[in-house]
Amino acid sequence: MRLLVTGGCGFIGANFLYAMRRNHPDWRLINLDKLTYAGNPGSLRALEAEAGDAYEFVHGDICDKDLVTSILTERGVDAIVNFAAESHVDRSIDDPAPFVTTNVLGAQNILDCARRAKVGRVVHVSTDEVYGSLGASGQFHETTPISPNSPYSASKAGADMMARAYHETYGQDVVVTRCSNNYGPYQFPEKLIPLMFTKATAGEPLPVYGDGENVRDWIFVEDHCRGVELALLKGHAGAVYNLGGASEMRNIDVVRTILRLTGQDESLIRFVADRPGHDKRYAMNFDLAARELGFAPSVTFAEGMKRTVAWYQDNTAWLDEVRSGAYRNFMDRWYKERA
Ligand code: NAD
Ligand code: TYD
Repeated sequence: MRLLVTGGCGFIGANFLYAMRRNHPDWRLINLDKLTYAGNPGSLRALEAEAGDAYEFVHGDICDKDLVTSILTERGVDAIVNFAAESHVDRSIDDPAPFVTTNVLGAQNILDCARRAKVGRVVHVSTDEVYGSLGASGQFHETTPISPNSPYSASKAGADMMARAYHETYGQDVVVTRCSNNYGPYQFPEKLIPLMFTKATAGEPLPVYGDGENVRDWIFVEDHCRGVELALLKGHAGAVYNLGGASEMRNIDVVRTILRLTGQDESLIRFVADRPGHDKRYAMNFDLAARELGFAPSVTFAEGMKRTVAWYQDNTAWLDEVRSGAYRNFMDRWYKERA
């Protein structure tokens, strides 16, 4: 298998590349990444050192038709897993434009180049956020109407619709996965869990939006990667698969868990201005992926959080490296406005 992974220098893409190398040492892995603020080639240093010719990094944009086409044809790519995206909801509220460019136009370019180059399968990695928000009960099913509320989720929904259209119109082999909130090693420290870890460790206030009652379903990143791998190997062309961690948590309880694991006091918690359009609750029904793919999350939230906090404690150099000037500019401005 010659597999093109896009966005492999990001959080989930990097974990996925390590997992594919472990599970399929005979595969050739090509990673196309633009290296935005969220992309860190340092996350893949160990893979690069160990894999030799079985791994190749290409620095570039998924929107670049000529580049994507040349990768697909020259390397004889069999399948693509598209992780590349702008992925942070708060940044999408700050400036939606790059989300439309990468998440919609970039995804469409990947589908189109793949169709023309006759690539066997495209797995498009999407999110539960395309479904919008739930009340106190119920779950998202694959049949739940798409109803995105943030510029991020709207852009991901646009790509999902393109994936569907390419399958229906051209008969292209496309599989869409929609997963809940990931956590684990290599996550950029602007998302809830690594952000709260860095703040707690530094003894700084932890900014909780609104009343902290918003609920997310949390999945350990290795379980998400397994779901994507199963979709690649066993998914039905044209299918959409929900993936989840069966771990619904209120934000305030996630934050308390991090304080406990870092030995810090709850007096560090600060309730700050809510995120505009903040989705109240996400919950996933992934019976279809269980039935058709044999997917099941294997790591509990308690176990995954212990592993995640231990990883960040052991990898302070990685954290220092990703907290560049560009990272600090956005973070300073965003949280000053909410205090
Ligand atoms: P991330 O922000 O950590 O990484 C995104 C990667 O994509 C970065 O390496 C970045 O450099 C690269 N990239 C951005 N624009 C690009 C472009 N135009 N061309 C090439 N590369 C580009 O994101 P993540 O958390 O790893 O998420 C990966 C995918 O999974 C995204 O599609 C996201 O929507 C989806 N997803 C994420 C979560 C989550 O909880 N993080 C949950 C469900 C689905
Ligand atoms: P986030 O990690 O940004 O993921 P998403 O918005 O894609 O679910 O946020 C997870 C939850 O944590 C979400 O309900 C918003 C909340 N949150 C805070 O309360 N404070 C923060 O500083 C951040 C970044 C998020």
